[in-house]
Amino acid sequence: MTATVITYSLQKGGVGKTTTCGLSAFLLSDMGYKVLAIDMDSQGNLTQLISGYDDLEPFYQETIKEALEFGDVDPFIKVASDNLHYVAADDYLVLIADYKGPIPKSTLLRKAIDKVIEEYDFILIDTPPNLSIQTVNALIASDYVVIMFETAKFSYNAIPRFMDSITGARDNGNPNLKIAGILATLSDSRRNDNKELLELIKEEYKDLVFKTTIPRRAAIGRLSVYGFFDNPELRQATEIHRDFIKELLSRVTQK
Ligand SMILES: Nc1ncnc2c1ncn2[C@@H]1O[C@H](COP(=O)(O)OP(=O)(O)OP(=O)(O)O)[C@@H](O)[C@H]1O
Ligand SMILES: [Mg+2]
Repeated sequence: MTATVITYSLQKGGVGKTTTCGLSAFLLSDMGYKVLAIDMDSQGNLTQLISGYDDLEPFYQETIKEALEFGDVDPFIKVASDNLHYVAADDYLVLIADYKGPIPKSTLLRKAIDKVIEEYDFILIDTPPNLSIQTVNALIASDYVVIMFETAKFSYNAIPRFMDSITGARDNGNPNLKIAGILATLSDSRRNDNKELLELIKEEYKDLVFKTTIPRRAAIGRLSVYGFFDNPELRQATEIHRDFIKELLSRVTQK
């Protein structure tokens, strides 16, 4: 096997990137796929969600930053379950912007996953809420990007600029980067402005928009409290994302 690499991104805070990336990793691993989730955000939220640790201290000097500098993620991979592995992030990841080693800074992640790419079905990458070097690395390393769209005005405005970053990644070494789709999240069907933005995005981006829309739901929000492995409301927290995963699988080509 060769992993299909998917980034979850938008240069906007709190749009559900980490929640959706983590849920995708969990659900795909639960379906029997071998998944590696990589945290490219120095906030370490994906690390917290998958590991169940509130504190990032246990990962000190064993994170994606060290993996990028070393040139291989393999020694830094942690195990959440048989099928779900991850590489952690902490605050020090921002220092990667100062990297002055032998390879182009934007290709560090692509190189670092190269040796393990045959060991997984999927490598899923979470990104920070900005167009930093971490996001550029994720886009250069990926086959697909899932664009996260919170049904809110600022998120709508962010999409064209994010599209420019995708073009940038295609022009700078990753010509085959594809958009898996635009995923609308955190929608509130009682709010007319939410509904209007959703209509607008569908009109503009047509089939690029996933048919599944993720509503705001308390059990999904509480995943950050209960996690995946000891969660009394796991069914409510995961059921909508199961539809998203079905759609995602129909849109990406597995290698
Ligand atoms: N569908 C949902 N329903 C309810 N709450 C949600 C949902 N999705 C995410 N949340 C909550 O909203 C907040 C933001 O979600 P998340 O951390 O996934 O966004 P993010 O885009 O990764 O944020 P950041 O830009 O800070 O990395 C979190 O508190 C999360 O638990
Ligand atoms: Mg996040």
